Amino acid sequence: MTEEKRAGAPAGRSAPARSAGRALTPVTLGEVHAPKVERLRTGIGEFDRVLGGGVVPGSLVLIGGAPGIGKSTLTTAALANLAAAGRKVLYISGEESAAQVKLRAERLGPHALGVPIVADTDLDAVLATLEAERPDVCVVDSVQVLYDPALTGAPGSVSQVREVAGRLMRLAKERGIATLLVGHVTKEGSLAGPRVLEHLVDCVLSFEGERERTYRTLRALKNRFGSTNEVGVFEMHEEGLVEVEDASARFVTEATRAPGSVVLCAMEGSRPLLVEVQALVAPSEIVPPRRVANGVDRNRLALVLAVLARHGGFSLGSADVFVSVAGGVRVDEPGADLAIALALASASKGISIDVDKPLAAFGELGLTGELRHVAHADRRVAEARKFGLERIVHPGQRAGTLRQALAVLNGSTEKGAAAGGGTASAQAA
Ligand SMILES: Nc1ncnc2c1ncn2[C@@H]1O[C@H](COP(=O)(O)OP(=O)(O)OP(=O)(O)O)[C@@H](O)[C@H]1O
Ligand SMILES: [Mg+2]
Repeated sequence: MTEEKRAGAPAGRSAPARSAGRALTPVTLGEVHAPKVERLRTGIGEFDRVLGGGVVPGSLVLIGGAPGIGKSTLTTAALANLAAAGRKVLYISGEESAAQVKLRAERLGPHALGVPIVADTDLDAVLATLEAERPDVCVVDSVQVLYDPALTGAPGSVSQVREVAGRLMRLAKERGIATLLVGHVTKEGSLAGPRVLEHLVDCVLSFEGERERTYRTLRALKNRFGSTNEVGVFEMHEEGLVEVEDASARFVTEATRAPGSVVLCAMEGSRPLLVEVQALVAPSEIVPPRRVANGVDRNRLALVLAVLARHGGFSLGSADVFVSVAGGVRVDEPGADLAIALALASASKGISIDVDKPLAAFGELGLTGELRHVAHADRRVAEARKFGLERIVHPGQRAGTLRQALAVLNGSTEKGAAAGGGTASAQAA
């Protein structure tokens, strides 16, 4: 519980509001004058795609992410491109001094050095600067360090963050300044700051990935101007964040083809993405045995294990089970079930499913052991074929249940049967 001081009501407002109101005239939506707004392209393809085609003028975008994930790098690079394209930009750094930001900008290339910066944490000064400069796009890094001296709370407290964001929003809408707010989220996503902002802003983007891994993903959790299904994949390099446009190609060539490895045809928004799902099954010395899931939901893993035991004949109750999506990617869709099940089965049998190309799979597992259809099957298959994966197991006429899909494992032991996709279950190309 924190005490919040109420700002004194301005003089004259204490009178009953009834007499002050002026009736408004409703108009039909068809009559509303809405000029066509041109989106501002940041020149970072993956970022623009996640935003729905670029930044909308006057919009407020919150970019949340764990410390050190690359929020400042991404926003600086975006401003650099916008400035190079002739837009007026401003970088407001509350966290780092101008000299520190310059060090980063030097890594990012010559355009980044053309970005104007102010380093301050006083909200009034920041608003006055924005009013005077009137940039097209500004970055506030971060929303938690700005503070309004009139409020009692410490910077980053709920009341401060709400006030800071509220006043920035008013200015952004009035002056048409697109504002990118950087916000911190702890590992548990528990920090009150950005959470209270989510209703206020137009877009909430989440920048995720593990710091030790190279791949980072940018996804929209809320977007008033575009789909929330889009995902951008980046890689952190010396010269900043580099877009990974053909992520599937990377993940497929990196796939190990060892027992326990299956390529999952996932959908990341409107885009199919091939990722490698790896499983390890090892005898356990502890009770209950370990269940470790990286990149997939733990509950999903538990469900797959239960269905495998009940309907697939693989009881892994006395084994430690590890499942991981390679490359630090997180897969959050039911379509991953079958690939996880096949990877687990292959790991527990110790046989590699593929002969010379990795096996691809997608499909949802039902609780009664049936395979359920998932969206965009044709696009997933097309993506797998594009990368030369010919053996694809997915729900269809030939594989209606998990048991039928698992027959692909038997096919691998008898290589002759598997060649040419002759197994009963594989929907081989
Ligand atoms: N010389 C370098 N070469 C490669 N990567 C680097 C280099 N310097 C920094 N990085 C990467 O950049 C990351 C920091 O980026 P950035 O400062 O944009 O993160 P941030 O999300 O803004 O962090 P914070 O939460 O501290 O503001 C580091 O974690 C590191 O991965
Ligand atoms: Mg930063």
